[in-house]
Amino acid sequence: MPFEPTYRLTAEASPDGGGDAWGNFAQSFRDPDQVLPPLWAELFEPLRTGTVDSLVVVAQIGQTLDGRIATETGHSKYINGPSGLAHLHRLRSLVDAVLIGVGTALADDPLLTVRRVAGPHPARVVLDPNGRLPASAKVFGNDGIRRLLITAQETTSAQSAGVEVVTMPAPGGRIAPAAILAALAERGLHRILIEGGAETVSRFLAAGCLDRLHVIVAPIILGSGRPSFALPPVERADQALRAPMRTFRLDDEILFDCDLSAQRLPVGRAKKST
Ligand SMILES: NC(=O)c1ccc[n+]([C@@H]2O[C@H](COP(=O)([O-])OP(=O)(O)OC[C@H]3O[C@@H](n4cnc5c(N)ncnc54)[C@H](OP(=O)(O)O)[C@@H]3O)[C@@H](O)[C@H]2O)c1
Repeated sequence: MPFEPTYRLTAEASPDGGGDAWGNFAQSFRDPDQVLPPLWAELFEPLRTGTVDSLVVVAQIGQTLDGRIATETGHSKYINGPSGLAHLHRLRSLVDAVLIGVGTALADDPLLTVRRVAGPHPARVVLDPNGRLPASAKVFGNDGIRRLLITAQETTSAQSAGVEVVTMPAPGGRIAPAAILAALAERGLHRILIEGGAETVSRFLAAGCLDRLHVIVAPIILGSGRPSFALPPVERADQALRAPMRTFRLDDEILFDCDLSAQRLPVGRAKKST
């Protein structure tokens, strides 16, 4: 599929030149009666309503030109520049929940709040089947925002006050991404951002559990480090996943917006949206 034109989504192109106006956009985004500003609708409208069921699941990866999301040591602050990071915070402000794997929680100790743009904070979800994350992790900080820990049934995790613990079957140490989404939907969380790392995003991708994938390519080459994806091998290049894709310019970075809805599997018990 040919690439569509590249859009320049710099701060100047944002509603009213960026700043607090993004907060208004995030509000309009949640109101189905509101028409979004055209340039921004182009990118964000697909995240508004589920096509397969009530869920919209978007993953993001910020990578180098040579496909790395972190150095060998796991250092990744920051692969992306200010525009790429602003895009990540915009995504956070539009979703009900942001989910990370425990690898990212341990390596980065992130807050997962919305700070680079105005807008509401999403619920924070950590996927930690073996209870490796300490209760003192910043992501579990009690700031009035919902925090969830998804863990294996047999695991005893360190408990932080107010964290909702969701225990799930984990045959072979793996919790089925579709079951994770269903559990989040049952708890009222329907628009989900899978923020990383590579393993977590790859498992959701391989399981057909993503509607969209946003890959932001930064103009740097690490030459070594952790790859963006780890998917089951294919034998031939023509068996590669070739999803419809659009590109958006974020200053000196390029956002690839991949439409994975054709391979998205319905999640049990979630109703199709109208
Ligand atoms: N550039 C970026 O956009 C970006 C974004 C996020 C993170 N990062 C970087 O990525 C690195 C971390 O990535 P990572 O791939 O090593 O780790 P990760 O994806 O953050 O976490 C992986 C771990 O999460 C658990 N997990 C994930 N999916 C699971 C499932 N379906 N069922 C059960 N458990 C599941 C497993 O924990 P167990 O090992 O306990 O089984 C797994 O080993 C860090 O260096 C971080 O800085 C970069």
